[in-house]
Amino acid sequence: MINIVSPKTHEEFKNYYDLRFTVLRKPWGLPKGTEKDDFEPISKHFMAVDGESGQLVGVIKLMEKEKGVGWFSHMAVEEAYQKKGVGKKLLVFIEEEAKRDGYTVLGCMARLNATEYFAKEGYVIMGLPSQYVGTTQVVWMQKKL
Ligand SMILES: CC(C)(COP(=O)(O)OP(=O)(O)OC[C@H]1O[C@@H](n2cnc3c(N)ncnc32)[C@H](O)[C@@H]1OP(=O)(O)O)[C@@H](O)C(=O)NCCC(=O)NCCS
Repeated sequence: MINIVSPKTHEEFKNYYDLRFTVLRKPWGLPKGTEKDDFEPISKHFMAVDGESGQLVGVIKLMEKEKGVGWFSHMAVEEAYQKKGVGKKLLVFIEEEAKRDGYTVLGCMARLNATEYFAKEGYVIMGLPSQYVGTTQVVWMQKKL
């Protein structure tokens, strides 16, 4: 079973950022540190943990983009656990959390190779793609909650 919890201890935060780095930055040869943004202190952090092994298998964070609009980002699932429903669990959780926080719209800057994934979950592309880390392009996608 996969449980979604917030990191609290030093070790949990270390593992949380390490997973982000491994999945979202290392493949592009980017240095350690680039897995964090300026808004970590005003973000809510969540991680998916395998209830049997205790292993950290997924991460996501949530913050306010503007009044009424939540922004989730840095969503990543450990490679061996991808395409097994962990991402879906993180998304369902973050949508409920966003509603609890009073957001009526939730969105993310989706990598172009992940837009299909978010579209299946009801997110719609708004605007044009822009350059992001490495050679990746991202585009804002959002959903009415
Ligand atoms: C994208 C990601 C978060 C999805 O999480 P996941 O746990 O692998 O996804 P799920 O198991 O919930 O997938 C559910 C469905 O989406 C599909 N899917 C997964 N990744 C996809 C992608 N990049 N594009 C299209 N479909 C995808 C799965 O095949 C599955 O389809 P099915 O229900 O028809 O079998 C994860 O694969 C990941 O970390 N990828 C690398 C980093 C990344 O791209 N992050 C997003 C940045 S915006």
